[in-house]
Amino acid sequence: MRLAKYLARAGVASRRRAEDMIYAGRVAVNGVTADKPQVQVSAGDTVTVDGKAVQGPERKIYLLLNKPPGYISTAHDTHNRPTVTDLLGNIEARVYPVGRLDADTCGALMLTNDGELAHRLMHPRYEVEKVYHALVKGLPGESALEMMRRGIVIEGEKTAPAGVKLLKAIPQNNTALLEITLTEGKKRQVKKMCSAAAHPVRALKRVSFAGLKVNSLKQGAYRELEEQEISSLYRLAGLEG
Ligand code: URA
Repeated sequence: MRLAKYLARAGVASRRRAEDMIYAGRVAVNGVTADKPQVQVSAGDTVTVDGKAVQGPERKIYLLLNKPPGYISTAHDTHNRPTVTDLLGNIEARVYPVGRLDADTCGALMLTNDGELAHRLMHPRYEVEKVYHALVKGLPGESALEMMRRGIVIEGEKTAPAGVKLLKAIPQNNTALLEITLTEGKKRQVKKMCSAAAHPVRALKRVSFAGLKVNSLKQGAYRELEEQEISSLYRLAGLEG
C-alpha cells in the first residue's frame, strides 16, 4: 500500500495532509525518511511520524456474500437462529453486515469491519444503488409499475423514486419477475412497495449492492472485494481511501 494511503487508513491524517507531512520530511519507513507519498509500505514495516511509531491500520476486511434464504442479517442472534456470520468460516476479524436483508431474501450482502464506510453506505444521503429481482404475484400493468416508480407511502413517508422494470411475465404461473432499483433502504421496502401495488412478493433476491454483483457466487459463498472495488466504494461514500 502507498505510504499516504497507509497513513490515512491508520487515522493519522487525511490523504492530502499525509502527503504534505511526507513532503515535509516528517515520515520515515524503517528508519529511512520517505521522500514521496508513493513509497510502498508492507505489513511488518515500521512507519514513524516525527520519530514516533504509527500503529498500523487494523486489517480491514470487505466481503460480498451471496446470502441464502433462512439466515438473518445480524452478527449474533439472541434466539440462536442461523446468522450470516455463521457462513464465513475462519475470517479472523469481526465483520458486520452493511444493512439488512430479510431472512427469506437472498443475494448480495456486504460485510465489513470498516465502520465508517459501512455507516455511510447505509446512509440515504449517498444514494447507494440496490438492485432487486422480485418474483411477484399477478401480472403488473404499466399503471402498477408506474405507481411503484413514483413512490408509495410507508409509515407516513413517501419512498424515493425507484427504477421498476418488468423483466418477464409468466402467465402460466400468474407471476412476473420485476427488477427494482432503490437508492434508499427502508425496512421491507420492496415487499411493501409490491404489496401496495397489489402484487405481493413471492421471492426476493438482491442482485447487486453499490455496484457489487453476486453474479457467479454460489448461494452461501462469499469473496473478498478487490482493492479497486474498495476504492470505488470509498469514492461513492465521499471518503478518501
Ligand atoms: N426489501 C425487502 O422487502 N426485503 C429485503 O430483504 C430487502 C429489501
